[in-house]
Amino acid sequence: MSAVVARAPGRVNLIGDHTDYTGGWVLPMAIDRWTTVEGSPGGDRVHLGSRQLPGTVDLPLAVVDPRSATPSWGRYVAGVIEQVRPQVGFRGWVASDVPLGSGLSSSAALEVAVALALGDPGPPLELAQRCRTAEHRATGVPCGIMDQLVIAAAVEGCALLIDCRSLDVVPVGFPPDAEVVVVHIAPRTLDGSEYATRVDDCRRAEEIIGPLRDASPGDVEQIIDTVIRARAEHVVGENRRVLETVAALQAGDLATAGRLMVESHASLRDLFATSTPAMDAAVARLCAQPGVYGARMTGGGFGGCVVALCQPGALAEGFVVRPVGAASISPSGADTPARPG
Ligand code: GLA
Repeated sequence: MSAVVARAPGRVNLIGDHTDYTGGWVLPMAIDRWTTVEGSPGGDRVHLGSRQLPGTVDLPLAVVDPRSATPSWGRYVAGVIEQVRPQVGFRGWVASDVPLGSGLSSSAALEVAVALALGDPGPPLELAQRCRTAEHRATGVPCGIMDQLVIAAAVEGCALLIDCRSLDVVPVGFPPDAEVVVVHIAPRTLDGSEYATRVDDCRRAEEIIGPLRDASPGDVEQIIDTVIRARAEHVVGENRRVLETVAALQAGDLATAGRLMVESHASLRDLFATSTPAMDAAVARLCAQPGVYGARMTGGGFGGCVVALCQPGALAEGFVVRPVGAASISPSGADTPARPG
């Protein structure tokens, strides 16, 4: 029997995309799809097989260059080893029902599950920060903190409002009379996408008008470069929409929450250019269904998934996701997994 079972959920972002890396607001929720790392500490190497993916990861504790690890999913494991610095190795298996390359944070779920299995002491924010750095080191993609932090700090039954500047998190109860449905559109990876270009566009906007988190629509109008202005306009509007969505969910006003999701999609499509024609078509199709409050692309974009907010049972396509609690680790067979930290 395995000595350790570490389990980390995927996540879907309800609203607030491409706002985390400028210290903005996001509203993701951890979902009932998990990556599990099961095995036993020991030895001086990390040796992991995968129930889904080909190849075996076999790495020393002194990782030199995470990006060169093989097979390709081993890069994330290597990045985590480098950050967690375990004193002993680990031998076991990875299994996951988080769809890979879907924009549902399969890589962040792998990072957090591996970190816990290797003995990361937490607390959740530090666990998330180590895993975010691991992702940077593994892929070179300059991702924000949203994915790792919601996976490390989620609360059952809630979405998580994250202030990506202070890194404070506030659970937002999810209305029981609403359902979240995810529809997978096309596989994608942020590695090799224009994600890093968007991060750079936002940095350039901040060089002109200061932190986007504090900028007003009037500040944005001062930006002369039309592309940089459009990126900034998205971020400033999206931060406002996140806070309005939280207020709408707390008031049980699902129609307003849905309308804000549709506005968010239009902004990501027209101003931030991270949507695709297939995602636009899916959002339009879903929004035309009775009982659907709204839909939008979710996550980094350039493919991946769209998310819809709807009445229970309204959609025949996609899959329903439920808000679950944070990643956890337990000795195998224990009833109650422990939270990190
Ligand atoms: C990816 C990144 C996140 C965030 C989203 C877009 O999921 O990992 O940090 O930037 O894209 O909101």
